[in-house]
Amino acid sequence: MAKARTTTTTLLLVAAALLVASCSAWEVNIRMPTSAADVDEAVVAPLIHALRPLLGSGKHAGVACDSWVLGVEAHNVRDWKTVPASCESYVGHYMLGSHFRRDSKIVIDQALAYVDSLKLAGNGKEVWVFDIDETTLSNLPYYAKHGFGATPFNATSFNAYVREGSAPALPETKRLYNKLRSVGIKPVFLTGRTEDQRAITVTNLRRQGISGWMNLLLKQPGFKGSAVTYKSGERQKLQDAGYVIVGNIGDQWSDILGAPERARTFKLPDPMYYIG
Ligand SMILES: *[C@@H]1O[C@H](CO)[C@@H](O)[C@H](O)[C@H]1NC(C)=O
Ligand SMILES: [Mg+2]
Repeated sequence: MAKARTTTTTLLLVAAALLVASCSAWEVNIRMPTSAADVDEAVVAPLIHALRPLLGSGKHAGVACDSWVLGVEAHNVRDWKTVPASCESYVGHYMLGSHFRRDSKIVIDQALAYVDSLKLAGNGKEVWVFDIDETTLSNLPYYAKHGFGATPFNATSFNAYVREGSAPALPETKRLYNKLRSVGIKPVFLTGRTEDQRAITVTNLRRQGISGWMNLLLKQPGFKGSAVTYKSGERQKLQDAGYVIVGNIGDQWSDILGAPERARTFKLPDPMYYIG
């Protein structure tokens, strides 16, 4: 009899724990054990385990790297020069593992749903603005050899990498690119790369199976303004020429801030560097 009651009590505790878990994870997290049964690992441990953040790396220390990355992505952390040294490993795991791909997929799935919701005029004036670096092409092969952004940017070695024209396309962005072409929205590349990098950029894009863009806009020699000034200025020119920017995607906030922003903007993850 006593044994049967203990079993019933345990079952009730499990049911209660499951109910609370389905309502709010936070309530479960802050509940303290109140009886021996609560301390029973079968009841408590799996719930706590489920709330543990998936960090992807156990090596970082001192800085909560997942919080730092969230701060970066939400544009609360700004004007930073390098990834905190203690987060090099975290960012490396994030970029090389499945996490970055998973986060990118969310962005592209939302963009595709948005495209499906559009009532297109189909007049050839509808365009979509794409950034290039870390949006269309990935420079991860370079950054993997240079601390994933934890070492200061070196323009000499980075430009040498760009000249190889070997940067892989980001597969999620390619899905969006192909979809837009299939519905008649014209891709426009708007990049902080400079005019002298046009030929190698075209070669790199073509090597990655990307073609059929309407325009490739590169920074002209002598331009001194900020990235926001440059990119919003180019979007304004497109609009003044009668084009309708139905969407805009980049990995930096400076890709998407500044008028005209147009209907929707999409921000891909990039915890490796900041361009203001
Ligand atoms: C930048 O890279 C170049 C080429 O690899 C190298 O010669 C130079 O020493 C680097 N500069 C710094 C400050 O590390
Ligand atoms: Mg970029």
